[in-house]
Amino acid sequence: MFSKEIYTARRKNLIKQLSGGLVIFPGNSDVPFNYPANTFTFRQDSSFLYFFGVKQPDVIGITDVDSGEDYMFGNDVDIDDIIWMGQQPAMKEFAQKNGVKITYPLSKIDDFIAKALSQGRKIHFLPAYRAQTKLLLEKLLGIPANEINNNVSEELIKAVVKLRSIKEAGEIEDIERTVDVAYKMHTTSMKMAFPGIKEQEIYGQIEGVALSHGGPVSFPVILSVNGQILHNHHHENIIKSGQLMVTDAGAESPMHYCSDITRTTPVGGKFSQKQQEIYETVLNANLEVIKNSKPGIYYKEMHMLSAKVVVEGLKAVGLMKGDTDDAVANGAHALFYPHGLGHMMGMDVHDMEGLGEDYVGYDNTVKRSDQFGLAFLRMARKLEPGFVITVEPGIYFIPALIDIWKKENKSAQFINYRKLEEYRDFGGIRIEDDILITENGCRVLGKPIPKTVKEIEDLMRK
Ligand code: GLY
Repeated sequence: MFSKEIYTARRKNLIKQLSGGLVIFPGNSDVPFNYPANTFTFRQDSSFLYFFGVKQPDVIGITDVDSGEDYMFGNDVDIDDIIWMGQQPAMKEFAQKNGVKITYPLSKIDDFIAKALSQGRKIHFLPAYRAQTKLLLEKLLGIPANEINNNVSEELIKAVVKLRSIKEAGEIEDIERTVDVAYKMHTTSMKMAFPGIKEQEIYGQIEGVALSHGGPVSFPVILSVNGQILHNHHHENIIKSGQLMVTDAGAESPMHYCSDITRTTPVGGKFSQKQQEIYETVLNANLEVIKNSKPGIYYKEMHMLSAKVVVEGLKAVGLMKGDTDDAVANGAHALFYPHGLGHMMGMDVHDMEGLGEDYVGYDNTVKRSDQFGLAFLRMARKLEPGFVITVEPGIYFIPALIDIWKKENKSAQFINYRKLEEYRDFGGIRIEDDILITENGCRVLGKPIPKTVKEIEDLMRK
């Protein structure tokens, strides 16, 4: 946990953003995966963690915006729990650590909320992403579970996004430590990427690296020689010489901050000329964005910049043609680069996505496009110091998509469909780093992970 001053200051800052009422932050409960006592590894809700810091299941935090008082509702363990789980801190001990002065057993929450409702007070809550949370809010507020997310507080969402978007020094340190775990995951993956090994052996090893540093992975590892499938969770291929292997993986720290890194490795340790040409285009896109990201710049502009670099590189090898700006405006690059440049990252790997992607990545100065590719851009808004975001351009050759576009002769003035046939089985390349927006620019977080052709080949030669 951070210090109690930090949690207290966060709750005070939240109160400053809200007009009145009560805020309820339901912590998560254990979730069974095949029978009640066999549960998934417990993961606390990130907004609850941000304001209350307690990792225990079944705890609810309340902040009273009008009185400034904070409350925690949760049960202390009894002797049965102690027999199975050992002694656990009491609610009062947690309260000493997060600065909450008043704690109650969970059984008191119904009356507490009923009283507030009878007084006509506003109860703010965030969108719920778990059925258990919807059922809890149904019981407390009398709103049907399937209507809970239609009754959320937009005022609260905006306030929470505003606070959680700007990472504090302690959060940045923790994210950076987690990127260093990703360094070990990715260099392990590179060192293992030799012909004859099954993807799942590498997958298992790198997940083990995350676990051995005290956290789980921050999202299910993507590791595949079919990198053209953007989120490929099939890991049963035996990798072969001449293939490219995409590893998109990060760790979660014991404090629950994330890393999210992608590297693309030539199986056997040497890029072919054809692979190197495409690889260096993706690398240039990644580097240009890092060079140009700074406060005041819209991240959408950085996405467009990365798309232009991709088009220039594809023109150089004869896969695209025509004017670069026109091709990007037309969306022609999205045949090869059909996703967004990046997303916010923090305690959630897609930070705060459960609160609504558009609240996090867009605002009233930048609206989401409906153009194929650009529509998937998660983060478009103006950059501010303290934002942590991913930079993850890619180039992919997706046979099913190529076939559809080719049949429609789509963007044919910019795409050389005949040449494209030579790349049908190329696979995909993505290169991703995590950056912090600073006062004047940005900084790549963590120990540098091999990224240039030479760095990757040198590491694999060792
Ligand atoms: N790195 C996985 C994702 O951003 O969805």
